Amino acid sequence: MTTQTPQIPETMRAAVLRDTEVGLQVETIRTPRPRAGEVLVKVAACGMCHSDLHVIGGAIAFPLPAVLGHEIAGTIVELGPGVEHTGLKVGQNVAGGFLMPCGQCEACSSGRDELCAPFFELNRLKGVLYDGETRLSTIEGEPVYMYSMGGLAEYAVVPATAVAPTPDNIDLVPASILGCAALTGYGAVRRGADLHYGETVAVVAVGGVGTNIVQIASAFGAKQVIAIDVSDEKLAPMKGYGATATINSAKTDAREEVLRLTGGKGVDVSFEALGIPATWTTALDVLADGGRMVPIGLGAGVQTAGVEINRTVRRSQSILGSYGARTRQDLPAVVDLASEGVINYKEIVSQHFSLEQADEGYKALRDQKIQGRAVVDMSL
Ligand SMILES: NC(=O)c1ccc[n+]([C@@H]2O[C@H](COP(=O)([O-])OP(=O)(O)OC[C@H]3O[C@@H](n4cnc5c(N)ncnc54)[C@H](O)[C@@H]3O)[C@@H](O)[C@H]2O)c1
Ligand SMILES: [Zn+2]
Ligand SMILES: [Zn+2]
Repeated sequence: MTTQTPQIPETMRAAVLRDTEVGLQVETIRTPRPRAGEVLVKVAACGMCHSDLHVIGGAIAFPLPAVLGHEIAGTIVELGPGVEHTGLKVGQNVAGGFLMPCGQCEACSSGRDELCAPFFELNRLKGVLYDGETRLSTIEGEPVYMYSMGGLAEYAVVPATAVAPTPDNIDLVPASILGCAALTGYGAVRRGADLHYGETVAVVAVGGVGTNIVQIASAFGAKQVIAIDVSDEKLAPMKGYGATATINSAKTDAREEVLRLTGGKGVDVSFEALGIPATWTTALDVLADGGRMVPIGLGAGVQTAGVEINRTVRRSQSILGSYGARTRQDLPAVVDLASEGVINYKEIVSQHFSLEQADEGYKALRDQKIQGRAVVDMSL
């Protein structure tokens, strides 16, 4: 039995990408409906992540037309069949995570949601959900593909595995950033680095994700958190998120400065949060002997970075890639940290765009004009 509220409209507005030369355009398409194991969310807001830029700019191929947007918060308006034991209800507010585990594959069975093979094969490569079909289509019936849940729309179908209920004290619009920026930050600190109390940390590139790494590393008890970026404006608020020092690597030699701040040792853990060779170099350069470098930045297509072979080997350094987090375990933890005030999700959101302004917002993100995170606010 499907449970729903009566007022779901037949059509909705969505920002559709048809041509990477043209960018996002708002269209009226059919409102999607949830199938087995899924919920329909009325989207309150969708965060604007750098990963979307790789698809919008054409650097990472994705089937088109598509609706992007992969970090949302909103209210459940319909339950598909087969979610009886999830505890999810119509009317409940939720955060939606970008990494939507199938819940059935070998990786999911062992709790490693971030390695879910069907997520990559079906959603990331084909833009569909786990029955091999998209839930989105134009009024004429042409399929429209989904990057994660296709969050840049008024409604989004999300597998029940990828939503976490948010308590009443959570402000839904900024809570949209929990499902990628904060989830990825949590995954990097908790899973990628397995950060321990008292360790020293550097975060290279403090955009939407990097800022969350700064605050979560600080909350996990890092003794020093050194924020590194090329923009003084991006660095300015970092001490408010728990950074103990900031370095503008365009003006200062980051390695020398980190060595000075750490008694000549370098940091135990360096996080890289942009995905270009220069930030990999910085993250490796500031690492202590035996240190762990945790890259979360995604390259614009196939990219390689230089790693000094003998230093890595002789200094027993590790490179520990980290993708998202274990959504089913970690998204509820992230929501809890936000609810408790440990993750400051409200101030990170520096700009609100309407759905019509989504294309303009991503251009500002590409031009590095966004502090923290911008969101598309569906009420505007
Ligand atoms: N691993 C994952 O699960 C995951 C999840 C989300 C995003 N990502 C990736 O993480 C990266 C960051 O995403 P975001 O949304 O935080 O990006 P963003 O655009 O918000 O931030 C990028 C930051 O990089 C800084 N920067 C630019 N050039 C630099 C340089 N040479 N050295 C240091 N800093 C520099 C900018 O000033 C800005 O603060 C992207 O590659 C994105 O695709 C990965
Ligand atoms: Zn993202
Ligand atoms: Zn799976």
